[in-house]
Amino acid sequence: MRNIGNNIMIKVNDINVSYNDEGHEESPIIIFIHGFPLNKSMWDNQVESLKNHYRVIAYDIRGHGNTDLGAIDFSIDLFVNDLLTFMDVLKIEKSIICGLSMGGYIALNAIENHPERFTALILSDTSCTADSPEAKEKRMIAIESIKENGVEKLADGLIPNLFADESFKRNLKEIQNAREMIVKTSMQSLHHSLHALADRKETCVKLSEIKVPVLIIVGKEDKITPPDTARFMQSNIKRSLLSIIEHSGHLSNLENPYEFNYQLTKFMASVNQGSNKIKKVFEEQSTNKKVNFDQIEKDLNSKILEITIIIKNKYPELLKYLDEMPATIPAEKNPEITLKNLSAYYDSLNAVLNKYKLEHPNLEN
Ligand code: MLT
Repeated sequence: MRNIGNNIMIKVNDINVSYNDEGHEESPIIIFIHGFPLNKSMWDNQVESLKNHYRVIAYDIRGHGNTDLGAIDFSIDLFVNDLLTFMDVLKIEKSIICGLSMGGYIALNAIENHPERFTALILSDTSCTADSPEAKEKRMIAIESIKENGVEKLADGLIPNLFADESFKRNLKEIQNAREMIVKTSMQSLHHSLHALADRKETCVKLSEIKVPVLIIVGKEDKITPPDTARFMQSNIKRSLLSIIEHSGHLSNLENPYEFNYQLTKFMASVNQGSNKIKKVFEEQSTNKKVNFDQIEKDLNSKILEITIIIKNKYPELLKYLDEMPATIPAEKNPEITLKNLSAYYDSLNAVLNKYKLEHPNLEN
């Protein structure tokens, strides 16, 4: 029987892997893979936003979050093997995958070597290149520095590169969360991961063999894997779309979740609706024509209606948030209210409701 919820433990290869599994059993599955040295909680916002329409899984990579370190050296190949075994244990034959940075290295390696296991790919703030000799050298220096100065110092050095400058004014909570994820990672795991990152092989040569639809997302201010890196991958993957996320650095899903989720939801809906819909979305990017996203708009409207009814019937204390909604959510088509606004509005209502439920567990049902 499938376990649903957070921090579920499951035996994978030689380790216990911790994962979150939300959404309906029968829905299309998406698996999220986090960056270095973070953990699955970096995807909380995306899990929340997708779980009504998809089965959404986010897991902690070996040595990160609550997953065991194991007794062997790390490599991207080992992480890929863990991913495939994890899918086997959960009886998932095929899935969509989304990886950010190190998660993207794993996702690319996995899809290039095991294409039969994946139906679509989201590459966020990542790259297909191997480390340059200078980058390898920096990783070895980081290993020495962690031994001498501890993990806090590593976090001090990493954080300014992970976020856009403007996030230091707007996203203090996200920065604090990322710092907590970093300092929670054990020294041993950091050493192992830095070696694995330094030793990873390039995956650019096989980009042209990727057959599934691919969404490439990158923060406009990403200093680690900048937009040019994303453009390079897009120009080499046949069925790929590129989204550059404003107001974001390397952790675009945390820095601008509204835009990130909007792009992700739109892509997922197009994948879900089959080849014609995907073709349409791809054509729209190449010709810059306006696409008819009627179905996506309908879905969003019905999700908003659903949540509005829940609030009216069960949580009248939250009615004030409904009052702050855009003047009208179009029952009929209203070009003034874009899908983006609808998506942002839905995400914020959902976040308000979930926060309220968490803070008032006794009110549930
Ligand atoms: C990450 O976010 O996973 C790292 O920036 C990856 C890297 O250091 O190459």
